[in-house]
Amino acid sequence: MNATKILGTGSYVPDNIVHNKTFEKMVETSDEWIQTRTGIKSRHITLEENTSDLAYEAAKKAMASAKTNASEIDLIIVATVTGDYFFPGVAQLLQRRLKCRNIPAFDINAACTGFVYALEIADKMMKNDGYKKALIIGAETLSKFTDFEDRNTCVLFADAAGAMILGRSEQPGIEDVILHSEGDLEGLLRMESYPLKKDFKTIENKRPFISMNGRDVFRFATTVLPSVIRELLEKTHSTIEDLDLIIAHQANKRIIDKAARSLEFPRERMYLNIESFGNTSAASVPLAIDEAIKSGRLKKGMRFACAAFGAGLTWGGAIIQY
Ligand code: UT7
Repeated sequence: MNATKILGTGSYVPDNIVHNKTFEKMVETSDEWIQTRTGIKSRHITLEENTSDLAYEAAKKAMASAKTNASEIDLIIVATVTGDYFFPGVAQLLQRRLKCRNIPAFDINAACTGFVYALEIADKMMKNDGYKKALIIGAETLSKFTDFEDRNTCVLFADAAGAMILGRSEQPGIEDVILHSEGDLEGLLRMESYPLKKDFKTIENKRPFISMNGRDVFRFATTVLPSVIRELLEKTHSTIEDLDLIIAHQANKRIIDKAARSLEFPRERMYLNIESFGNTSAASVPLAIDEAIKSGRLKKGMRFACAAFGAGLTWGGAIIQY
């Protein structure tokens, strides 16, 4: 069998915890509204560490859990929309800090679905091109681009990193990955870039921020989350009963509850950690996978689905045997 298997995982969040009450002093909101409408109680927001710092800490933990040295890693993919720089990528900053050799290393942007895209790219590069050990990461410092005067977004987004070491195996691992994108919906969720200069030289004082039509993204997410799981089940010739756990992007507890109802999947087998982390975009799925493993919810031999959705609008999922 030519399979790609999870060899180890790690995650990292900044120390600084921000509770819902803090936002009551900043915008017109309440702890009660945030908890009932999103499921979030607190989140981690960075004060000093940048995306590559979070990614580095998560990577070190994943490498330790996979008993993998930097010299063995032959591919690095980082899913992020909040890199330290536009260029170089977080992948190169990591490559330098981890002291990895000359290998392919690159960032990808598929927003909150980024980690699932990274999983597909790594799986196919390993299967087709012979890479042996890949480090894939979802890492974000969304707080850099959050408008803390916009109650529609500021209570949701947060900072984190999740990392995974993938290796070649004779045992079953990643069974299938499905990716989607619908560009017609790109206006629903955006992080602005810097504006074009009017006369090529004037410096504009405008900070880029996240903007979102939450209601429409919510509706979209409640449709595509169950649909991509169904697609995966069909492609892998399995049924929902064959899944031990579903680890979905942690964007809103109500989206996860609705998906469980739609799939007729036991709610307690839908992993949930949004309460303590908020929406950490590309970091959300690998952070949840790492937590599920460390807490014993995801055990060796179990079969689980992960799925994500986000700006683009993009969505996708994977079925993996751990
Ligand atoms: O990871 C990328 C994908 N992103 C998502 O999946 C986010 C998906 N969307 C959501 O999770 C939800 O739509 C939100 C949590 C963003 C909003 O919840 P909602 O129940 O869909 O609220 P809504 O947008 O329908 O707004 C209802 C009301 C509005 O007030 P009016 O117009 O009815 O007077 C909002 O202005 O809630 C208001 N509102 C707030 N009120 C208190 C919006 N944000 C807040 C807030 N505190 N933080």
